[in-house]
Amino acid sequence: EKGNYRHFMQKEIFEQPTVVAQTLGSYLRQSDNSVALPQFDFDISSIRRVTIVACGTSYYAGMVAKYWFEQFARVPVDIDVASEFRYREPVLEDGGLALFISQSGETADTLAALRHCKENGQTIGVVVNVPTSSMAREADLLLPTHAGPEIGVASTKAFTCQLAVLAALAAHMAVKKGLMSRAEEQEVVAHLLEAPAALNSALDHDDDIASMAHLIAPARDVLYLGRGPDYPLAMEGALKLKEISYIHAEGYASGEMKHGPIALIDEAVPVIVLAPSGPLFEKTVSNMEEVRARGGKIVLISDAEGLEQAGEGCLATIEMPRVHPLIAPLVYAIPVQLLAYHVACVKGTDVDQPRNLAKSVTVE
Ligand code: F6R
Repeated sequence: EKGNYRHFMQKEIFEQPTVVAQTLGSYLRQSDNSVALPQFDFDISSIRRVTIVACGTSYYAGMVAKYWFEQFARVPVDIDVASEFRYREPVLEDGGLALFISQSGETADTLAALRHCKENGQTIGVVVNVPTSSMAREADLLLPTHAGPEIGVASTKAFTCQLAVLAALAAHMAVKKGLMSRAEEQEVVAHLLEAPAALNSALDHDDDIASMAHLIAPARDVLYLGRGPDYPLAMEGALKLKEISYIHAEGYASGEMKHGPIALIDEAVPVIVLAPSGPLFEKTVSNMEEVRARGGKIVLISDAEGLEQAGEGCLATIEMPRVHPLIAPLVYAIPVQLLAYHVACVKGTDVDQPRNLAKSVTVE
């Protein structure tokens, strides 16, 4: 079933243009570039707060979505990892949408958090890849991802499909709240529909990434930096690397580096910088200077414009297509997944079945 691929993870990375297109196809109407959600029986414009709860990679998808809900729908968003959420005493007021994100739909902590929110009067939204799962059954608003079965333990295609659904949901909420005009909605939908082609161009850099993996494989620690909606991607990149290559990695907000992690920087700690060009690019460039001044080695992932501006003197660069900021988190997922994958291959680890991990964590 792996076809021409060496691993399920690799196959699943390469499936992303197709499955993201499939997922977008069920939430966006191409005939008039509008968002079309499944039927549900509550008024989404009256939602006063969104509480997002998930674990691991699904949690990082939620972190990206927080930027979108706030930016488009101007709704306050709380987000928590499920294992913390269920044991604090979260304030759940009337008119709240509690949103659970899960590939499997069976993660024990997330499911327990869902039930807690239900008992506390929240409307339950579920973004899930397994339509027959427990979470799917308990949803008021079921938003399936159409990633198909994900076999590799490290989540890849489920993540980008979650992002696709969450972007559509945030836009839909903005439209219903009267905060997004018809023209703006058309524009957002058009940008989302550009995602599959952009994912394909990102995948074209597979060989470049494979050939630089040996530069990262010897490292004991790796830092990932990103800003804005690409900050969760830095954490996702670090999670992927640690899961399958067993290299210690941390993701930080670029601007937070000088508040501590910079102490780690030396020539043995590669720093992977995720930075599409844009208004905040200059700030990231100064963060890169701080790394360089301490002998740090940078791998810059950016578009042609960003690489032109800041690519010189980097250990390596990975070129991404120039995309609208809305779809950048989907596109930049590809190089961090591929980098983790190729580093793991260099190290010879069991990519699809990394040690100590289970595909679905159904115990607390
Ligand atoms: C990371 C990974 C895990 C899962 C987490 C949540 O590659 O696979 O961090 O994302 O266990 O699983 P789901 O999404 O099934 O709730």
